Amino acid sequence: MALIIDGNALAAEIRTEVSADVARLTTSTGIVPGLNLLLVGEDPASTVYVRNKSKDCEKVGIRSTIVRMAATATEEEVVEQVREWNNDPTVHGILVQLPIPKHINEHRVIRTIDPAKDVDGFHPENAGRLLIGLDGFIPCTPYGVLEMLKRYNIETSGKHAVVVGRSNIVGKPLAILLAQKRPQGNATVTICHTGTPNIAEHTRRADILISAVGVHGVITADHVKDGAVVIDVGINRITLPDGTTKLTGDVLFDEVSAKASAITPVPGGVGPMTRAMLLRNTVTAAERIGGR
Ligand code: GUN
Repeated sequence: MALIIDGNALAAEIRTEVSADVARLTTSTGIVPGLNLLLVGEDPASTVYVRNKSKDCEKVGIRSTIVRMAATATEEEVVEQVREWNNDPTVHGILVQLPIPKHINEHRVIRTIDPAKDVDGFHPENAGRLLIGLDGFIPCTPYGVLEMLKRYNIETSGKHAVVVGRSNIVGKPLAILLAQKRPQGNATVTICHTGTPNIAEHTRRADILISAVGVHGVITADHVKDGAVVIDVGINRITLPDGTTKLTGDVLFDEVSAKASAITPVPGGVGPMTRAMLLRNTVTAAERIGGR
């Protein structure tokens, strides 16, 4: 039976550390870190995510503001809002919740965010910095996964890590970070995606298996080597036979946990870590920007 990696406990530990850093920054410089969140449209999941992120900020002493725009907002209106925040010295972090309505060019909106305030790490400058190993902002989910590996002393150097999924938010940055010559890196990395003919053939060779697909049940016991570490990034809502719904990951937890040496649950695994790393990135932004 696998060790269950407790994302809630780790996230609480990180929030305590971030709180202390906020208090130190505020006492020594008077700066109160601020995160502004933009929600365009009324997607129910996004609405919950944004509200939770804002509540997390309150818990650690980060000021946060949510601005909601109608789904009919124009690209210019969205870009103008971001520009205003770029120029506001009380705003250290800017987060535009994705997805945004299709008539708005997501890439243009992300490019408008000042890279120094891009706490999601989605701006091409931060993506490029990550690729070549310079400091910037690491997207919150990959950052959270690295923190889990670090705090559970899971060795990555010389191991074979298999990442299933190639999204810009999770799969691609995580694969690059794991391959980088750095702590929680130096792994041999395989990326599997929808173009991979036989995913199990690759995942069965993983010492560390990370699934970031967003489809419940794509990782079964048959995909996993005995003793592997399994990190489940998926968050999927499924309907049970009795009509109720529940949150599940990509991994069939019961059968995979019988084979793995360590595994993250859903909920209570990667999700809370993502939220915690957003707080960390926001304080880092405030520390770097200072009073400028
Ligand atoms: N949508 C899904 N995940 C994320 C995230 O990490 N950041 C933002 N801005 N939008 C998201």
